[in-house]
Amino acid sequence: MRLGSLVSVTSLLLLTSTTLAFKAHDFKTCSQSGFCRRGRALSARAKDAGAAWNSPYTVDASSVSIQEGAVFKAGVKNSLYPEVNFGLEVRIQDDGVIRARIDEVGGLRKRYDEAASWALISEPRISQDIKWSAGRDAIRATYGPKKEIEVVISYQPLKITLYRGGVEQVVVNGQGLLHMEHFRNKPEPPPAATETSSEQSQPTDGEPQVVLEAAPVNHRAWFEGETEDALWEETFGTWTDTKPKGPESLSVDINFPNHGTVYGIPQHATRLALPTTTGDSPHFTDPYRLYNADVFEYLASSPVSLYGSIPLLHAHSADSTVAVFHVVGSETWIDVSHRSEKSTETHWISESGILDLFILPGPTPEAVFRQYASLTGTPVLPAQWSLGYHQCRWNYVSSEDVRSVQKRFDEENIPVDVLWLDIEYSEDHKYFMWNEKTFPDPVEMVNDVAANGRKMVVIVDPHLKRVQNYPAFKQASDLKVLVKPKSGEGEYEGWCWPGSSSWVDFFNPASWDWWKSLFKTTPQVDGSWSWTQSTEDVHIWNDMNEPSVFNGPEITMPKDNVHYGGWEHRDVHNINGMLYSNLTWQAVAARGDVPKRPFVLTRAFFAGSQRFGAMWTGDNLGTWEHMAVGIKMVLSNGVGGLSFAGSDVGGFFGNPEPEMLVRWYQVGAFAPFFRAHAHIDTKRREPYLLDEPYKSIVYSVLRLRYTMLPMWYTAFRETTVTGVPVLRPQYVMFPKDKNGFDIDDQYYIGQFGLLVKPVTEKNKRDASVYLAEDQVYYDYFNHFAYRGAAGGRNVNVPAGLHQVPLLIRGGSIVPTRERPRRASSLMKHDPFTLRVALSNTHTASGDLYLDDGETWSHQSGQFVWRGFTASKKGKVISISSSDLGKKRPGDAVDGVSLTSYDDRNEFAKSLEGVRVERIIVLGVEKKPKSVKVGGKEVEWEYLEGVGAAGRVDGGAATLVVKDPKVEITRDWEIVIA
Ligand code: GLC
Repeated sequence: MRLGSLVSVTSLLLLTSTTLAFKAHDFKTCSQSGFCRRGRALSARAKDAGAAWNSPYTVDASSVSIQEGAVFKAGVKNSLYPEVNFGLEVRIQDDGVIRARIDEVGGLRKRYDEAASWALISEPRISQDIKWSAGRDAIRATYGPKKEIEVVISYQPLKITLYRGGVEQVVVNGQGLLHMEHFRNKPEPPPAATETSSEQSQPTDGEPQVVLEAAPVNHRAWFEGETEDALWEETFGTWTDTKPKGPESLSVDINFPNHGTVYGIPQHATRLALPTTTGDSPHFTDPYRLYNADVFEYLASSPVSLYGSIPLLHAHSADSTVAVFHVVGSETWIDVSHRSEKSTETHWISESGILDLFILPGPTPEAVFRQYASLTGTPVLPAQWSLGYHQCRWNYVSSEDVRSVQKRFDEENIPVDVLWLDIEYSEDHKYFMWNEKTFPDPVEMVNDVAANGRKMVVIVDPHLKRVQNYPAFKQASDLKVLVKPKSGEGEYEGWCWPGSSSWVDFFNPASWDWWKSLFKTTPQVDGSWSWTQSTEDVHIWNDMNEPSVFNGPEITMPKDNVHYGGWEHRDVHNINGMLYSNLTWQAVAARGDVPKRPFVLTRAFFAGSQRFGAMWTGDNLGTWEHMAVGIKMVLSNGVGGLSFAGSDVGGFFGNPEPEMLVRWYQVGAFAPFFRAHAHIDTKRREPYLLDEPYKSIVYSVLRLRYTMLPMWYTAFRETTVTGVPVLRPQYVMFPKDKNGFDIDDQYYIGQFGLLVKPVTEKNKRDASVYLAEDQVYYDYFNHFAYRGAAGGRNVNVPAGLHQVPLLIRGGSIVPTRERPRRASSLMKHDPFTLRVALSNTHTASGDLYLDDGETWSHQSGQFVWRGFTASKKGKVISISSSDLGKKRPGDAVDGVSLTSYDDRNEFAKSLEGVRVERIIVLGVEKKPKSVKVGGKEVEWEYLEGVGAAGRVDGGAATLVVKDPKVEITRDWEIVIA
């Protein structure tokens, strides 16, 4: 958001980033949030009590049953509230994942239990192969290929422990912080506070002051605190949160003995390896917060919640990776601390909902990604054009402006795939409705852009201006699908860009078909309104979907607003934004006779958002710190499953100096989503406006991105099947190398062994790159060979302003197309280049995936998937290409399991004649005598290495095979003798 108080949009537009800064007082700290305060007070009391602290939650052994061979069910009691009943269910899935659910049974009300239904792709299958051994105090489930996994459910107190190979991996309620506040009747009159604990009832600025009285008499107080603290109502600033259901928070501790590093729970602007929030010298004093929020000028290092929330945490050590995924849609705070270097303790405090906890047993990062993807889905394969460069700003102000931006790109012969329109295209911020003065000819404008092989992305925000002449609002109002205020009657009204606005309740199924109908580009049969003033070349940007409400508490909706089914906004807040972009994605997918893959960019997200498109890191600042943290945030989003991510290139706020802009383009070119964007108050900064040498450097960065599009697209194919992120942090690549656990300023791209370390510091002209293994790495541009070493080695890579430190790991083959054009769609029949980076043992492999880039025909087998390998026998190196689709139809693409595949499909035929025009082989130590294809000599050139012989760094010997006359869709072999 831009403002905490209510101001007109016009005055908003006059504000500059220099006059405003992050306003801490707009957002709650833990001590200002009742349930978080109570949760932290609980852990403080437990800590003080030490060994004397016992969880009051116990499993009723007499109620235990095992159903369907893999589902444990039992009643649970809290000894402090014997009148309240809880149920525990532990299901073991066929992939070894454990799901633990606790809910109140027969309570006064029902807790929200539908978060998983939005996040998961389907109901996970349970295992058929569990051995249970029941004792008096515990039950043990044993499973896994070597029966190495054990889940022990202890009864007194309740504790769930995951062991692998006899070693403790994950412990739930080991610290005894499990607490589910049960529903109760509001006491009349509320009991007065007792004297001893007056500190607890006061929100304090720092840590909650919690004092454990020497010998607790009141056992409930011992557990819950002695004063009722913000149970029935809570104020923050000028807002009051009426809590009609009373307290219903959920606290649970999850420990990872033997795992010293944790990653995930995006989105926060911080390091990838999450710093501590409690303990002796915490890095942050507040827990990480997950509460989707529009945070104005967010800090570059902070646990404050940002636009999206994914409650997934990886815990990692050199021996093991495990994860927990707590599917809860309400505000959640997570404390992280380390008891020792080797183990991590976390404490999760959520405002409402059931405990619905998935424990992912790993044992490697890759296994964890697969396990998470089988729950929430893999990323969808993006339209190929969306991996090109996106040019955005707030705002291109007219259709003539759009045309002239496109013209400048074309005159300069630089590539761009997408031109964007921010909110000012619309009449009074009524999205879909063009401002007819400035955009008199929207369809012609879009067609002019599309004529050059490009697309447009236009913003559609979720707040609907409350005026009767706005069809989107009028229809939503008539359909009664708008979010309701706390009374449960009428329409909630708040302020956003258009002034007085309302929000569609996408939890209401009655909104779904209607929302989809709005995006139809053709007139509707029943004559109702649809967006005929757009075309199928228009794709969508969904912003402000946290939702951002300028005059709401914490710039969002009041928690006591009411959604479909009577649920409060507090129950679904973090899921809300995902539903909006998911529905938009479905709407765009439903257009046209030949459905095309939609592109939808979202700012808010939740677990599962990866199934529906891209996200970006919101309103970053044009500072070096933000440039650097943007990389870490994108890596963290990848850990959370959302690979298709990027940050505003240039920084949203401010006017970056040319050097910064150049570096930012280099960052963007190596991010999955590559978009330049800028605030309305900033100076125009399209690449062609730069002076030399900056302009030429940015042009070459853009062209570099385009040459590498085949690699990016192929990397995305892989993640659509495995869920392993497109950007792979060091710990994912080298899980056993401790030196890499904290590294988050360099990363690998996909399966390609491309190691990049963008420069994010002013005046920096070199980069220290960490190589974790005894393997050769080649500079992508000048072929200098760096020798990594077992145990790790840092090498110094030149990084002049025109250089991005980019290395290819020995053993990789990278496909590119080195004739960058003005848009990716114009490159479809261009020839390929292969870079073959020979490993220490003269081997290499890689792949290339191609399809029409736009439709869904790939899901029925219309694609080309080639595997390349290089190997050495005696003195002969051979490089070959073979079809992978036939070999592995089952894991071809997009999570779709084909049973067979025809390598001469129509799409493959359309590429007949498309050649490999060049093969660059790095590390051919001796000049060959011959290079042959099918027995015939082909043209080649050999460049001697410079001082790189044996195992020392130096220029690698390189063989360039020119036009070997081989086709990309055919099998071939090149023999280098
Ligand atoms: C929000 C978005 C930003 C956009 C602006 C106007 O601040 O994060 O990207 O330009 O709104 O729509």
